[in-house]
Amino acid sequence: MNTRFKLNIQLLDDYIKQSDLSKLEDKVRAIHQSLWNKTCKGHDFLGWLSLPFDAAEQLNRVKDLAAEIRDHSDGMVSIGIGGSYLGARAAIEFLAEPFAAKNVLFLGHHISGDYTDSLFSYIQDKDVYVNVISKSGGTTEPAVAFRLLRRVLSESCSEEELKRRIIATTDANKGILHDIAKAKGYRRFVIPDDVGGRFSVLTPVGLLPIAAAGFDIEQLLKGAQDMATLCKENDNVLENPALTYAAARYLLYEKGKKVEALSAFEPYFQYIGEWWKQLFGESEGKENKGIYPTSANLTTDLHSLGQYFQQGERVLFETFLTLDKTTSDTKIPEIEGDPDQLNFVAGQDLHAVNQKAYLGTKYAHYEGDLPNMTLSVPERNEYVLGQLFYFFEFAVAVSGLLLDVNPFNQPGVEAYKKNMFALLGKPGFEDRKQELDDKIKGES
Ligand code: PA5
Repeated sequence: MNTRFKLNIQLLDDYIKQSDLSKLEDKVRAIHQSLWNKTCKGHDFLGWLSLPFDAAEQLNRVKDLAAEIRDHSDGMVSIGIGGSYLGARAAIEFLAEPFAAKNVLFLGHHISGDYTDSLFSYIQDKDVYVNVISKSGGTTEPAVAFRLLRRVLSESCSEEELKRRIIATTDANKGILHDIAKAKGYRRFVIPDDVGGRFSVLTPVGLLPIAAAGFDIEQLLKGAQDMATLCKENDNVLENPALTYAAARYLLYEKGKKVEALSAFEPYFQYIGEWWKQLFGESEGKENKGIYPTSANLTTDLHSLGQYFQQGERVLFETFLTLDKTTSDTKIPEIEGDPDQLNFVAGQDLHAVNQKAYLGTKYAHYEGDLPNMTLSVPERNEYVLGQLFYFFEFAVAVSGLLLDVNPFNQPGVEAYKKNMFALLGKPGFEDRKQELDDKIKGES
């Protein structure tokens, strides 16, 4: 199989030798085995490993519903947060043309009143479907958004009509959203028990919004299947790119490089960066360990973060995301007299100029003691994206296990939720509320 995208770790040479990677070979092989035979830490949450193949079960229902949404409405509001939001958003932003009207809108991924009001006024003359997504069924942000949107829609829709328009994506058997959906008779998709939120993009969590936006989810799954096959069949750290990436990150971390910037040279990657930050941050950042994931959009951020990258604290390493093939052939024109002194690039197309920006940046950063590697993505399409999703999921599992943490839980996310519930007066949180009220009073 052709992996299509390439990982180049050449510029890690001053930091990691091939022999360092080879030394990790046995450890990585053991982790690889523990994933596939499901004996690793967090082994109850390994359903994502075979999702590209299993997703076929719900595929036709997803495709039919997506076609119904596209043919019979103005679009869909997708409600969810974290893993119940970022994958779909990343896919749509990667695949869509930036100035095309969007028929999938997102809500419930924060609590901004102004954004919510603005979305409601935007949809007031439109027929929209709603896809409310929550595995636990009790996450505050989407639950609040759903309550509000349901009320808005009920002003113009009968209960029967709401039943047609609302689709819930929930746990198979439990959770508040699951119970509401059953009671109201909403159409429902299931997130498998053994798939955590940030690994759920290839379940209906991601597939329905992506298909509703008009993209080919079969190709997406095909790309993921091919990457899954490669990841399963090859346990060699020097050959399997997901293993190479995980091992390289680990070795850099051991050498004090505690922050990874995913630096992309195309704006289409921006939300891949957001999805990746959640995937890596929630999977690795525990037990006082883990690489801090951050992302940058280049060349834009070379005019903001660029100074830090070049000369700030040397705790960073960088993974560049580049796009090999674009459709644009826009060339910079020559102007007589060269008033803006740009004739030296005249005749070159923007992609070629962007490539030079990448090459210039990677060597500047390398020479500034910022180790970097590059994932070159051949083109923007569903197949390649499916590979990329699976690649990162597999890599983070290996990477977390190299750090000896459970990559599939997120106990730390609960702390803010408990405080928020307490401050909002949720029953059962009275003691915590008292503690927080005292602290807050002490501030003034
Ligand atoms: O990765 C995770 O599990 C989390 O980010 C969840 O996806 C996020 O908190 C949303 O949870 P839920 O789908 O239960 O509303």
